This record gives sequence, C-alpha cells and structure tokens, in this order.
Amino acid sequence: MHLGTNIDMAVEELRKGSLVALPTETVYGLAANATDEMSVTKIFAAKKRPFFDPLIVHFKDVESILPFVESIPQVAYSLFAKFSPGPLTLLLHKNDQIPGIVTSGLASVAVRIPNHPDFQAVLRQLNFPLAAPSANVFGYISPTEPAHVVKQFGNEVAYVLDGGRCEFGLESTIVDCTLEPVRILRKGAITAEMLAEVLGYIPEEAKVSSSQPTAPGNIDVHYAPKKPLFVVDPKELIEPLPEGSAVMSFGKISKTSGVFYAELSPNAELIEAAAAFFRTLHQLDEMSSIRQIYTTWFPEQGLGKALNDKLRRAKSNH
Ligand code: TXA
Ligand code: MG
Repeated sequence: MHLGTNIDMAVEELRKGSLVALPTETVYGLAANATDEMSVTKIFAAKKRPFFDPLIVHFKDVESILPFVESIPQVAYSLFAKFSPGPLTLLLHKNDQIPGIVTSGLASVAVRIPNHPDFQAVLRQLNFPLAAPSANVFGYISPTEPAHVVKQFGNEVAYVLDGGRCEFGLESTIVDCTLEPVRILRKGAITAEMLAEVLGYIPEEAKVSSSQPTAPGNIDVHYAPKKPLFVVDPKELIEPLPEGSAVMSFGKISKTSGVFYAELSPNAELIEAAAAFFRTLHQLDEMSSIRQIYTTWFPEQGLGKALNDKLRRAKSNH
C-alpha cells in the first residue's frame, strides 16, 4: 500500500482495477470501478463485507448519473440541486449498466456526488463512476483520516490518497427516492429538517434493521470499537468508574482523577462533535491504558440524531 497526494497515481490504479482509498467530505471511501465486477468484488473481500450489503456509487455530477438509472425523478433533481455536491445519497431505480454485485441484486442503486476536491479531481479523469463504501473493515469504526485507513488494510489497497481530515466525519444521509413521499434510510449530515425545506414535508425515517432485508445496510451492530463502549446516564459518570476507563463527552465535563476524558466539542456544538466522533473512538481504541469507554446520548435533535444512531449500533450494553 502507498500513501500520498498524487491524483494521477490514484487514477492509474483505479483504471487498472485496483482498490484506492479516497477522501470525501464525510469519511474515507474504498473506491473501485463500479462498472467492473472484478474490481467491485475486491472491495467486498478487503472489507470482509457480506455480499448482501450494497455499495454507494459516486459520480462527478448529476448528468453523469443518467446513463446508469432508469430516470431521475424531479424530487431527486431538487435534492441534488440543493445539497450536491455534498453529503447526500439518493436511491434511484438502476439500469443494467450497474452490475448486480454493486447493489446486492436490488433494483435500486445508491448514488452520491461527493464534494471533496480530490475525489472530484479523480472522477473527472475517469470515464466510469466509483463504488465506494467507507474504508473500514466491516463493522469497525469509520475512517476520517488517512491513518485510520492505513492501520486497517494492507496490500489489498493499492493507494491511499491523502486529502486530510474529513470535514463532516459522519457518513452521508441516504434518502430513498424510488417512492414518494421519500424516506430517510440513514441519518447523516443532512438532517430531516434540512430536507424538509426542499420537500415541503418532513420525510419519515424508515424503521430498518438487519432483520429487514429491504434495507440491507443498516446492520444492528456497526461502527464498533474493539473495546467495550457503554452509553450511560450522565449521573453514572460522577460515580467512580473502573480502572482503565475513558469518558467521551459531548461538551465540557467535570473530571475525576484516574479517568481519561475526551471532550468532542468544548462548545457543545453538534457539527464539531460529529467531525471528532469517529476520530476520538479510533484514538481511545488505540490507547493501551484504556480498557473501556463510557459516553452519554447526544441531544436528540439535528445531527444529534445521526450520532445517536451510530452509538446505538456501536455500543456494547444492548
Ligand atoms: O458518506 C458516505 O456515504 C460514505 C462515503 C465513502 O461516500 N460511504 C458509505 O458507504 O458510507 P457504506 O458502504 O459504508 O454505506 C452504504 C450504505 C449501506 O448501509 C448500504 O446498505 C446502503 O448504503 N445502501 C447502498 N445501496 C443501497 C440500496 N440499493 N438499497 C438500500 N440501501 C443501500
Ligand atoms: Mg460503512
């Protein structure tokens, strides 16, 4: 595996059918030619990802999506016009230009137009779109900087394009546009309230879990550190914690000795906390002095809903 800032190198490896980790504004993606079955198979193998979990396909702009879908409904045009390029993924009806392996045999394809300049630069040099899941081993914490990718993969990834830290640090919001009214399949940086400004209604959140095959990606256990992560009531953090404890807090928190504290956002701002969330979990998972991690729920509003959704899947105290 090579790490660097060479756009041409990334492009060359992708043309060869290799896997390349690319920066996006949300998290790092593990990219391959979405139109080539062999290349896409390498993604599933490297991530140890089950084949029933479909991938998002990334395009440089709305026009380049057209050859790969049955049609783009008006509602999708409107959402793209407002939020793309950016952290929004839409589900559309696919056509046969997208191999079945990409969508796990589903009739819909998830499409997204990423905003990171490096990802855009790569797409502009290619004549195919890129399938790219988050560049983490299946089930583990998502990567928000190149080091997170490097520590999880070896030579199965040809190149890691270093585009710095991800701006949002949380995956894109996924909206199912195959039906109207549209529904939110995964909460992310674009909140239901933001979508409502375009839609004229607050979209419902699909109730999904791994037991409901219509939304295969929302696996119940996901984003999890190797160490136990407990989501507790704030008052439990005032009581003595076991040796080797870390507390990951949203804002400033009063401290007791013997405990390691990681404050996600000293000003208690959700956008800042989201950007630091996965990075902090990676850090705490690496520190040898820490055996378990405690945290509390975020305020259940806006981005806090997306963060709580990650916590529900990552926590050990189910
Ligand atoms: O921000 C992001 O979206 C990042 C960056 C790299 O773009 N990508 C990402 O991909 O989060 P991934 O593979 O980690 O998550 C994709 C999610 C999965 O939960 C998957 O099941 C769902 O999208 N998905 C993809 N295609 C789908 C489809 N046709 N129907 C339902 N869910 C789908
Ligand atoms: Mg993922």
